Amino acid sequence: MAKTVSHPAKNNKILFAASEAHPLIKTGGLGDVAGALPAALHDLEQDVRLILPAYREAMQTIGDLKVVSLRMQNDPHPLRLLEGQLPGSGLPVWLVDSPRHFDRAGNPYLGADGRDWPDNAERYALFARAVSAVALDQMGLAWRPDVVHCNDWQTGLVPALLSLAPARPASVFTIHNLAYQGVFTTADYRRLGLPAELWTVEGLEFYGQAAYIKGGLAYADMLNTVSPTYAEEIRTPAFGCQLDGLLRRRGDRLVGILNGADYHEWDPERDRHLPHHYSAASLQGKAANKTALQRELGLPRAPEVPLIGLVGRLVEQKGVDMLLAILPELLQQPVQVVILGSGDPAFETALLTLAGHYPQRCQVNIGFSEGLAHRIEAGADLFLMPSRYEPCGLNQIYSLRYGTLPVVRRTGGLADTVTDWTAGPDRATGFVFDAAAPRALLDTLLRALQLYRDDPAGWRRVIGNAMACDYSWRQSAKAYLDLYQQAMTHASAGKTP
Ligand code: ADP
Ligand code: GLC
Repeated sequence: MAKTVSHPAKNNKILFAASEAHPLIKTGGLGDVAGALPAALHDLEQDVRLILPAYREAMQTIGDLKVVSLRMQNDPHPLRLLEGQLPGSGLPVWLVDSPRHFDRAGNPYLGADGRDWPDNAERYALFARAVSAVALDQMGLAWRPDVVHCNDWQTGLVPALLSLAPARPASVFTIHNLAYQGVFTTADYRRLGLPAELWTVEGLEFYGQAAYIKGGLAYADMLNTVSPTYAEEIRTPAFGCQLDGLLRRRGDRLVGILNGADYHEWDPERDRHLPHHYSAASLQGKAANKTALQRELGLPRAPEVPLIGLVGRLVEQKGVDMLLAILPELLQQPVQVVILGSGDPAFETALLTLAGHYPQRCQVNIGFSEGLAHRIEAGADLFLMPSRYEPCGLNQIYSLRYGTLPVVRRTGGLADTVTDWTAGPDRATGFVFDAAAPRALLDTLLRALQLYRDDPAGWRRVIGNAMACDYSWRQSAKAYLDLYQQAMTHASAGKTP
């Protein structure tokens, strides 16, 4: 983790650019981070503005928006900047409004057919140009940031474009997931009029194509990823997604800062999605949530049967193939398994088919439901995250707070946040396995089920340890302040990375 500063150094102006932010629009953990970290920075007396594309859902959620800027000299499409507030925190939000690109229903990245929107290269080039224009105070807002904080490939072009400006703010790029790279063709690159001088092996070029993520990795003043372990892993070929060489070269600019949890949203004592509230001191509410969840999902009401939950994107990263491999054997046990997610259609179908064979024991919900995600966190006894890799992972952090013991693979942020049962009853917070193999997952689950059955007192102690963990954003936000400081030092030294 980056060295933290004890006090906010000064009131920095921070432009925080992301492609999703809860509660405006969310597909995964990036949305949670972009909805919570800017607010935590604001609480540390920073002047933070969040900037997002003006997706239809985001505009509808904010409701009260005003036009604050209108321009784009060289662009064929007019561009408006809308201003509003992030519901809940009141943080200022700017939405980059180009209806042709963003005013559409559904997922920000995918069409109804589950494929990437065909114009994603253009959509996120336009977004990056708008963010750069705001960063250089070219949009008439009379506000110039000290730091631009970019997140994932959708904002990767921003540090690259800024590197061409004679006087520019510092840039920080956060890698939430190295496997998503925003790779587009040379033809796209040329058609979009992106600067020829950025088309180099050290720059955006990636095996003959353009990778937007490289704009962040190669040009940002400082880089980070969302856990200390993933920050190490991505320097190796096994996790580096063909970018490990670049990351090793920029190794002195790369740190790991663990994500936090937004306990205003994710706390069983006040979670607005739960029928019953509870705390470590009084767990009856947890049992009541379990019964309510069983009723909601049409499972037998069985307080004594261990309930295993999983919420997440159904993609290879999350180890869904391993889960599919063990489910038939796991479901021979007296258990209930509840799954909420969407993603790869083959995984969706396979899970639904399996669940169809075990209607009393396995319930699969395909789709996205914020409320049900919270109710699974509260109602389950165990939470499954057998990820092949996991930059940070938020659901295991939420699970700890909900006393829903996580079963995780020792990788990335999962390794940094969950302590295995073998550490003993004073320290354990869950169950951790090493090999990315179905057998290892099943053995660990069986070990957990045995503890649940045979040692209720031991189980409650682990719940107590888990619920006592504190991953609130404040500490991590301070680490980001330190990162911004380093970025500003490098930027003012005047060297383009
Ligand atoms: P990732 O960002 O890789 O998807 P994280 O664990 O960091 O994984 O964050 C996932 C976030 O998205 C959590 O808030 C989780 O509850 C939420 N989420 C994922 N899938 C769904 C779904 N189908 N319905 C509701 N929430 C979901
Ligand atoms: C990514 C990662 C996840 C991380 C999230 C927020 O989607 O897959 O591990 O928690 O971003 O940083």
